[in-house]
Amino acid sequence: MTDIVLLKGDGIGPEIVDSVCEILNAAGADLVYHTYDIGQTSFEKTGKLIPDETLEAIKKYKVALKGPVTTPIGKGFRSVNVYLRLTFDLYVNLRPVYSFKNISTYPNVDIVMVRENTEDLYIGEEYEIENGFEAKKRITLSATDRIIRYAFEYAVRNNRKKVTCVHKANILKKTDGLFLARFKEIANEFPQIEAEDKIIDNMCMQLVMYPQKYDVVVAPNLYGDILSDLIAGLVGGLGLVAGANLGKEVAIFEAVHGSAPDIAGKGIANPIALLQAAVMMLEHIGKIDVANKIKTAIIRTLKDGKCLTQDLNGTATTKELTNAIIRNL
Ligand SMILES: NC(=O)c1ccc[n+]([C@@H]2O[C@H](COP(=O)([O-])OP(=O)(O)OC[C@H]3O[C@@H](n4cnc5c(N)ncnc54)[C@H](O)[C@@H]3O)[C@@H](O)[C@H]2O)c1
Repeated sequence: MTDIVLLKGDGIGPEIVDSVCEILNAAGADLVYHTYDIGQTSFEKTGKLIPDETLEAIKKYKVALKGPVTTPIGKGFRSVNVYLRLTFDLYVNLRPVYSFKNISTYPNVDIVMVRENTEDLYIGEEYEIENGFEAKKRITLSATDRIIRYAFEYAVRNNRKKVTCVHKANILKKTDGLFLARFKEIANEFPQIEAEDKIIDNMCMQLVMYPQKYDVVVAPNLYGDILSDLIAGLVGGLGLVAGANLGKEVAIFEAVHGSAPDIAGKGIANPIALLQAAVMMLEHIGKIDVANKIKTAIIRTLKDGKCLTQDLNGTATTKELTNAIIRNL
């Protein structure tokens, strides 16, 4: 039995978390779930977006599976996700994306996005100026070195061939200039891995035209955030792709998508992205066999194509897709 923290979150969060737990239990994952509040739902209940008990539980159990949380756009409170990343120094945002037969527009995509998770424009420092506002972008040597080193070490560990660094160093000569310079320097420590760099705008076009050319991609926070969704779109959309927020002590696993308020409560959300996050979590805690069993069931269910949710052009409900995955375990 392994203890994990379960955070249901907002919008479609509770629906997909329940579905994923049903599949984990059916697969024999042998987990003890410690459920805590987070997000807007928590705020309405307790007056806090992240109650102290939730933070204590994450600190104690070190591994959490998290549903999406709502963050108001252009007003209101700061992102709960950003707060968690900074509090637990979850400096890596790891998002593996691969093609699914009969689902993905592009076959043979197999990209791992490694996004810096603690700085860049996400430090949230915005100031009023005479005729509008300006925002601060922070790129430090220490945060840059550890994310770039992580990307190369991940490549070596997972038998990958190439790491591509994404930047805008032609315009942002100091901040992105530092990121690129450190990439080139650290690449020398890993002669067995091919290293290349691309300017962010070109990288967007490259990914849409030749996604199969890319392997591990490393980027500062904002470009990494945007590219993750672009790459998810190459293989079937946000309903399929997951991410891990990793620090030295704590790891939080979640879907790439948000709380999808437009479909919340309708029972039609796709649980696969969060299930992929659960697979990453199982790998992280060493339950490789159960992780592989669930991964195979996902691939089988999608290939079969008989039971797909609306985001994948099907008509199935969350419950029907959950049952189909369980049958394929
Ligand atoms: N990690 C997180 O918690 C996270 C990530 C991104 C956005 N958000 C927050 O989520 C809220 C909504 O953001 P948004 O609308 O821009 O993005 P979103 O990802 O919630 O939704 C975008 C579109 O994709 C669809 N979609 C997303 N997940 C789906 C799923 N599992 N199954 C089927 N369809 C799905 C939605 O219905 C919507 O049409 C915002 O408050 C945003 O800040 C949270």
